[in-house]
Amino acid sequence: MAKKNDFIDPLVNAVTPEEQNLLVSLRAGDWSEFAGQIGVKKALHIAIAAAKKRKEPMEHILLYGPPGLGKTTLAHIIGKELGVNVRVTSGPAIERSGDLAAILTNLEPNDILFIDEIHRLNKVVEETLYPAMEDYALDIVIGKGPSARSVRLDLPPFTIIGATTRAGLLSSPMRDRFGLISRLEFYSPVEVEEILERAAKKLQVKMDAVAKKELAKRSRGTPRIALRLLKRVRDVAQVEGEGVITVPILDRSLSLFEVDGMGLDRSDRRLLTLMIDKFDGGPVGIETLAAALAEDMGTVEEVLEPYLMQIGFLKRTPRGRQVTQAAFTHMGKVPTKKQQEELF
Ligand SMILES: Nc1ncnc2c1ncn2[C@@H]1O[C@H](COP(=O)(O)OP(=O)(O)OP(=O)(O)O)[C@@H](O)[C@H]1O
Ligand SMILES: [Mg+2]
Repeated sequence: MAKKNDFIDPLVNAVTPEEQNLLVSLRAGDWSEFAGQIGVKKALHIAIAAAKKRKEPMEHILLYGPPGLGKTTLAHIIGKELGVNVRVTSGPAIERSGDLAAILTNLEPNDILFIDEIHRLNKVVEETLYPAMEDYALDIVIGKGPSARSVRLDLPPFTIIGATTRAGLLSSPMRDRFGLISRLEFYSPVEVEEILERAAKKLQVKMDAVAKKELAKRSRGTPRIALRLLKRVRDVAQVEGEGVITVPILDRSLSLFEVDGMGLDRSDRRLLTLMIDKFDGGPVGIETLAAALAEDMGTVEEVLEPYLMQIGFLKRTPRGRQVTQAAFTHMGKVPTKKQQEELF
């Protein structure tokens, strides 16, 4: 059986330091470089303008959605736009209330504290954060036992930008403290092309138009995947080709990385194969599916499934998950008569 987390393809997770540097160097630096997400951008523009006008910190913002869609990038763009510092931390990095206090008391007025994986904050820290978000104050308990007392610490006004791939795990009091909650969507192929175009220029690699289109189609609607694939394809183009990314080079590289014609990776295909071969195409309950994949339920629900649903390979029914005819076709499987009758 697969080890836990082994299953999520390294294309989406596990970033090597080298790749991390590359992604940072390709990071969209301002709005002009940030493609797509029209609705999210509009809401943010208004929040930013309002904060500037009132000369107050911007309201707290929660960004959620599948990995690699630009949450961290947005936090930096917002900071730049407001002319404030962005301190970056993450849920698991803040172990104690004291850690949080140290971070918050060091902020300058109107700074942004970006908390990645905010769903992983522990309860005690989370509860310390509530009054901080509401009143810019911290209640800290000093000492232990009968001599313990609580002191209130005033903080500079600040903004929290929380990011999560797992909005479902956020407690409702936490959620209620955000003034703006925005969901990031997968990018359309045209938007991904735009991102690839800019990155190829920065990387000084030539790519023909058809190859660019094809790569965009096979990037799972995810800028991070697009940029990583671009880098890998560029390597192949330089080693095996004339340095230009063409369709044959692209095909060769993507099959090397096990990315198929729809941009599905190993983990996507494993889920579909399992559903078809083991569960007759469904419907199968999410718990059962997650157990069979040796993955946790939330990861299946919030990381793996969204794209498969978006492209119409998977659907939710009252009785569980079910694959579609399109998924059978893509996986080269023919539904049995029984499956035919029950599923479609
Ligand atoms: N809309 C966009 N336009 C251009 N580039 C983008 C866009 N969104 C993301 N990117 C690029 O994709 C890469 C990944 O984005 P980012 O790290 O912000 O994703 P994320 O949502 O924070 O992912 P995670 O959930 O894994 O933390 C970055 O290099 C970023 O610049
Ligand atoms: Mg991020």
